[in-house]
Amino acid sequence: MSATRFEGRTVIVTGAGSGIGRAAALKFASEGANVGLFDLDSERAESVRGEVEDIRRGAGLVCVVDVSDPLTMEQSFNAVVERFGGLDAVFANAGINGAKGPIEHMELAEFQRTIDVNLGGMFLSVKLAVPHMKKRGGGSIVITSSVNGNTRFSSIGMSPYSTSKAGQVAFAKMAALELARYKIRVNAICPGAISTNIDETTDEHDLADEIAIPLEFPRGGDHPLAGRHGLPEEVADLAVYLASSEARHVTGASITVDGGESLLF
Ligand SMILES: NC(=O)c1ccc[n+]([C@@H]2O[C@H](COP(=O)([O-])OP(=O)(O)OC[C@H]3O[C@@H](n4cnc5c(N)ncnc54)[C@H](O)[C@@H]3O)[C@@H](O)[C@H]2O)c1
Repeated sequence: MSATRFEGRTVIVTGAGSGIGRAAALKFASEGANVGLFDLDSERAESVRGEVEDIRRGAGLVCVVDVSDPLTMEQSFNAVVERFGGLDAVFANAGINGAKGPIEHMELAEFQRTIDVNLGGMFLSVKLAVPHMKKRGGGSIVITSSVNGNTRFSSIGMSPYSTSKAGQVAFAKMAALELARYKIRVNAICPGAISTNIDETTDEHDLADEIAIPLEFPRGGDHPLAGRHGLPEEVADLAVYLASSEARHVTGASITVDGGESLLF
């Protein structure tokens, strides 16, 4: 497999400061890409920029941005295009777990925050990519959804998260069809449990236990394929493949990457 699938290409990765986004940013850079590193957390994003620069000087640009904010998102997309001369791929990956608790006790604003970041941020990442990709004659967008909301529904209390993740897959399919005429491909990936910092973003309600359902998982919670949670790099490999020209005939797909977990849990 070519190590330079992205030579001379420019990619934006949202949520690049940690976990799956960081792993993808490093892989894109190691395959020749210039990478726009979008994250809320400037320290984490700068640290990833350092790692990108170790791979290739000048290949990383940090944009400190809340993906749900239209104005700074637009400015950040423009900054990437200005710096690197265009845009070929977007990994719309930033997301939060958000509110976890009984629907009865959840405020609308809590529900909406998860939707705003996960769905709103994804929407802006796709919308803002379109004009730049049209100029290039095509492009690829990969959206990080989840097994939650698509193939598994057992994370009780995470109704906003699962709703957002289901919405992302529907949106990816709609966008794939709409944007095919511009040779822009759109795919969704659905990771299972991956070892990242995502649990820091769970906003658990005091009464979350009230709605718990006692579930019996296989002893030790072992995952069928690897016997452990997935690694960010194992998800990044799929995202980078979908963004590359090797996936030139793949659009509108939603691909599970969970080591078989959702077949069982
Ligand atoms: N880790 C898992 O088990 C798992 C499973 C399925 C899906 N996912 C999805 O993978 C994606 C990446 O999550 P991760 O597990 O790597 O988590 P992570 O918390 O390690 O990384 C997410 C990054 O996104 C950034 N971020 C959060 N909100 C943001 C915002 N509003 N604007 C800009 N940046 C923001 C964070 O600062 C962080 O650096 C998410 O969409 C998540 O829902 C994760």
